[in-house]
Amino acid sequence: MAEAKPNINLGLEGVYFTESSVCKIDGIAGRLWYRGYPIEELADQSTFEEVSYLLLYGRLPKRKELDDFSSQLAEERALPEKTARIIADMSGKTDPMHVMATAASSLSAYDREADDTTRDANLRKSVRLISKLTSIVSSIGRYSAGMEAMQPDGNMGHIENFLYTLTGRRPSADAVSNTQAMFILQAEHSSNASTFSALVTASTLSDIYSAVTTGINTLKGPLHGEADEAALRMLRAIGTPDNTERYIEEALAGKQRIMGFGHRIYKTYDPRARIIKRRLEALQGSASEEIGRLTQIALRAEKLMIDRLGQSHGIWPNIDFFAGPVYLSAGIPVELFTPIFAASRVSGWCAHILEYWQNNRLIRPLDYYTGTLDLKYVPIDAR
Ligand code: ACO
Repeated sequence: MAEAKPNINLGLEGVYFTESSVCKIDGIAGRLWYRGYPIEELADQSTFEEVSYLLLYGRLPKRKELDDFSSQLAEERALPEKTARIIADMSGKTDPMHVMATAASSLSAYDREADDTTRDANLRKSVRLISKLTSIVSSIGRYSAGMEAMQPDGNMGHIENFLYTLTGRRPSADAVSNTQAMFILQAEHSSNASTFSALVTASTLSDIYSAVTTGINTLKGPLHGEADEAALRMLRAIGTPDNTERYIEEALAGKQRIMGFGHRIYKTYDPRARIIKRRLEALQGSASEEIGRLTQIALRAEKLMIDRLGQSHGIWPNIDFFAGPVYLSAGIPVELFTPIFAASRVSGWCAHILEYWQNNRLIRPLDYYTGTLDLKYVPIDAR
């Protein structure tokens, strides 16, 4: 008897697969909370270290807890020598996200607790991953530019040290503050594609390094983490503010997607995009000619896209649209945007992995088979 065709949710759209207390998105109201705290408050008042603690432990730390956690992150910054060699060898030859995934996976070989599957050991491994993924990004940046990696400075906070080891200069207060906000905004976003894929790996009771490496590989795609790079490349291709409307109209007429717009969950303005837009506007007076020009282009593109597709199609700016000029203003090159995304999102990945393992169930959905059955096997010479 023919099987009745089940209801299929392509892309798992609208499917709930677990309970979680890490993050809540209201895609209609355009609101976002990490562990109950509105994203606006965290982005403006917190630090990446504190937000990582919040995500992992489920509550804000007291002063001493944060100091200890920040010290642990600082102590873990140095990369194993062989991981550094992998980065030096691969950088400039392939996509930085391939370098990052390989380097992240290699960390397991130098973790003496790699085989310890207790929750405490996995919390310690999470701290190592959060710290070292940022060091991997600055090393990729240095080696790709033909320079040696820099030694971390244990007296600097996570973001200040990142910018210092990337650029070789002590960063400005604006650069630290804006990059900090980006790290916070990108740290978590419920069951997005990369978090879900990390959980699929974790649900097999594989290890946390494997799960995080899966997340990195999933984040790489232009429909997910790479959209910020694509959005900046588009702003640069538009070239001048007066070319904006023509460029966007032609792209839409050619059925192209405008990167940095649209979202599976938000059918209104992404609250993270609002925060970054505000920071970009605040930069305008002090920024370079290029950042000023890219900002003007971005603002004109935003207006046109909202007029054309906002109310009518629910396509609004997402976090990736305004990120590029903000990163550039901090001295971060476009090739590192997606690796930075991974270095931020690792906090969310680890929080979800640890939560999921408390009530683990193998993730194994179904597909509806549409092929034929019971074909007769024909030996190769008789085909
Ligand atoms: N530009 C133009 N049209 C768009 C865009 C866009 N950015 N996004 C969606 N649309 C259109 C689609 O062409 C489609 O039109 P159609 O119904 O006429 O075919 C309609 O809107 C629905 O699009 P879907 O792809 O079905 O919507 P989905 O929920 O799968 O899309 C996605 C979400 C993948 C993010 C999409 O909006 C997109 O491709 N955006 C550009 C990439 C991007 O910015 N990604 C970053 C997302 S945020 C993050 O991951 C950090």
